[in-house]
Amino acid sequence: MSVAPAHAAATAYDANRVWRDFPILTREVHGRPLVFLDSAASSQRPRSVIEAVDAYERLHHANVHRGVHQLSQEATAMFEHARARVRAFVNAASTREVIFTRGTTESINLVAQSYARTRLQPGDEILLTALEHHANIVPWQLVAEQTGAVIKVVPMDRRGVIDLESFADKLGSRTRIVACAHVSNALGTVLPVREITRLAHARGAVVLIDGAQAVPHQRVDLAKLDCDFYAFSAHKMYGPTGVGVLVGRESLLEAMPPWQGGGDMILTVSFEKTTYNELPFKFEAGTPNISGAVGLAAAIDYIETLGIDNIHAHEQRLLALATEKLTRVPGLSIIGTAPQKASVISFTIDGIHPHDLGTILDAEGVAVRTGHHCAMPVMEFFGVPATARASFACYSRESDIDALVAALGKAREVFG
Ligand SMILES: Cc1ncc(COP(=O)(O)O)c(C=O)c1O
Repeated sequence: MSVAPAHAAATAYDANRVWRDFPILTREVHGRPLVFLDSAASSQRPRSVIEAVDAYERLHHANVHRGVHQLSQEATAMFEHARARVRAFVNAASTREVIFTRGTTESINLVAQSYARTRLQPGDEILLTALEHHANIVPWQLVAEQTGAVIKVVPMDRRGVIDLESFADKLGSRTRIVACAHVSNALGTVLPVREITRLAHARGAVVLIDGAQAVPHQRVDLAKLDCDFYAFSAHKMYGPTGVGVLVGRESLLEAMPPWQGGGDMILTVSFEKTTYNELPFKFEAGTPNISGAVGLAAAIDYIETLGIDNIHAHEQRLLALATEKLTRVPGLSIIGTAPQKASVISFTIDGIHPHDLGTILDAEGVAVRTGHHCAMPVMEFFGVPATARASFACYSRESDIDALVAALGKAREVFG
């Protein structure tokens, strides 16, 4: 059902051909060619994903899991195929461990409410890091309020690095849960999540990794990582909005109570007692986002056609080039200079508020994100109210960096 991307025949990574797979990138904004550098917030969709969703909607849609009729069976097969695709992509142990959610945020809330709320005792500790997205802070604050657990934070240094020593220092006998990003959305830092998991497990803590910014950019092998929960969103990996994944260790998921009640998560219901469905359906109450899952499967197909390692290498080249060129812009400071970074560059320019900068860049056709990036503690740590953030994806090109640098020159003229 998925359509081979235009670049499929190419051997070397050809960013221009990849770029042509994304119809939206050919449009103009404010009469200028669009230069889209906001993929960390949400990436664009290739034609193959758009067409897979379109074909599903036109030809196959019906509710899943409940119908004997042909369309319901087709929709169910496509939905479960998507689950199998996700399992293989991140190397989860079984499809029973792959739960479809609305996205990373919902995945983390599920673990906070179903796993943590039922287990944490007053004084138990939840260990986070200083660079988390609000989605990996607030659900834990809610559960801390509900249970009397305490939140501890592993500090970072001025580069945005969380080192293993500070992590080990904060890991205590009361640490029950460690929740940390695989990649920081605000700084680009890649965290040593394998070692973090190993250290946490040695102290008996359960580990959740927020993989929202990792899965689109590097190979994620959950068998190697060995964390207990891993969360990510389709819309940051060339798939649709409103669908994401929680991968959980089967033994933990089995022992966890359902989080939400409704259809699909039950086997039998009477007013006296309800018995719950088996994994993964126990955690999928109500009609799921079927077309979203179909789109996610097509997005995974797309990524695998390009090769996640090729995407990674391409983005790392762009990151190095952009870092070099931006460093030469007078007055520009890069926020987040960890040696291991994904393709995200946060920056400020002396004398120009990031929001003004974003507006001027937009007038030039260059889309960057400005603000606190849902990571207010990070902004506070660096003493800035906000940053501008350029982020790269598989379709980003060197010319995008040149357009960014030229637009920054314009902004400096305006404010000069
Ligand atoms: C690191 C990180 N975690 C969590 C999220 C939340 O993802 P979603 O809004 O798709 O649930 C984001 C989104 O920006 C993110 O970058």
